[in-house]
Order: sequence, then structure tokens, then C-alpha cells
Amino acid sequence: MRLTLTVNGVEHTVDVPAATSLLTLLRDELGLTGSKNACEQGECGSCSVYLDGVLACACLVAAGQAQGRDVRTVEGLASGDELSGIQQAFLEAGAVQCGFCTPGLLVAAHDLIERQAEPSDAEIREALAGNLCRCTGYEKIMEAVRLAAQRANAS
Ligand code: FES
Ligand code: FES
Repeated sequence: MRLTLTVNGVEHTVDVPAATSLLTLLRDELGLTGSKNACEQGECGSCSVYLDGVLACACLVAAGQAQGRDVRTVEGLASGDELSGIQQAFLEAGAVQCGFCTPGLLVAAHDLIERQAEPSDAEIREALAGNLCRCTGYEKIMEAVRLAAQRANAS
């Protein structure tokens, strides 16, 4: 199956087997390994990406469904070597341990801050409810999202 899609602002044409998921396409065909494959069942959120600007689990999207569409991955949150506010905040708050959940959390938190300038703790928890972390206990993640939101508002 041949398809064309835009990923992080760059158009790609790829040939993949019909059963390929968008996550496999991103990781194996395009080398964008930021999005992680932890459950492949839509349960953990580690594969979260934007699809036409809407948060989606890339493991649940068939590659063919991405034909002609716009995908933004965790790699696309940064501007070259410059981290996005949410990426920087995760680093500073120590919200990363093994890091497996981190890319999905970053995309989901980025989406929240874009939609909601001053999210409450309840709103942060709700927005990140689909992203599972086995390491951090979530407090540092909450701290990182609060920090990123405060800075986004101050700038
Ligand atoms: S790998 Fe997609 S939700 Fe877990
Ligand atoms: S940092 Fe290890 S799963 Fe979240």
C-alpha cells in the first residue's frame, strides 16, 4: 500500500503492508522512534500523536487512515534543538524516569496547554488520564505541566 502523509511538516510517501499501524509506520519507516509502543491496544497512551491536530493513539490508527493527513509527533514539538516549553518543564521538574511514557505524556500535556491556558489540577489529571506511567507516581508530571502552563501564560 502506497500512501503520502505529512509528518512534522515534511511530506513522506511510503510503501507499507496493508495491516501496518501509523505507529509502526512512524517508527519503522520514518525512524521517528519517539512515539513508543508499550501496549499496542490503546490503553497506555505512550504512542500519542496529533492527527490533523487532534490527539490520537498511533497504535490504533491504520497507516492507510493517515493518507493525506497531517501528523505531529513528540519530535515535532521541538523547534530544531530548542525544546518546547513542556519538554523543558519535564526535564526541570524531574518528571522523567525510564522515559517510556514520556513522549505520549508530552504530546497530551502539550495539547492540554494549547486548549486550556490555566488548567486546574483536576483538568491536568483528566487530560493525562489516558497516559500511564509506572515510575513517577505522577506528582513530578503534575509539577511539570503546572510549570509549563505558568510559563506559557507569562510569555
Ligand atoms: S502503545 Fe498505543 S496506547 Fe499503548
Ligand atoms: S517514567 Fe517510566 S513509565 Fe513513566
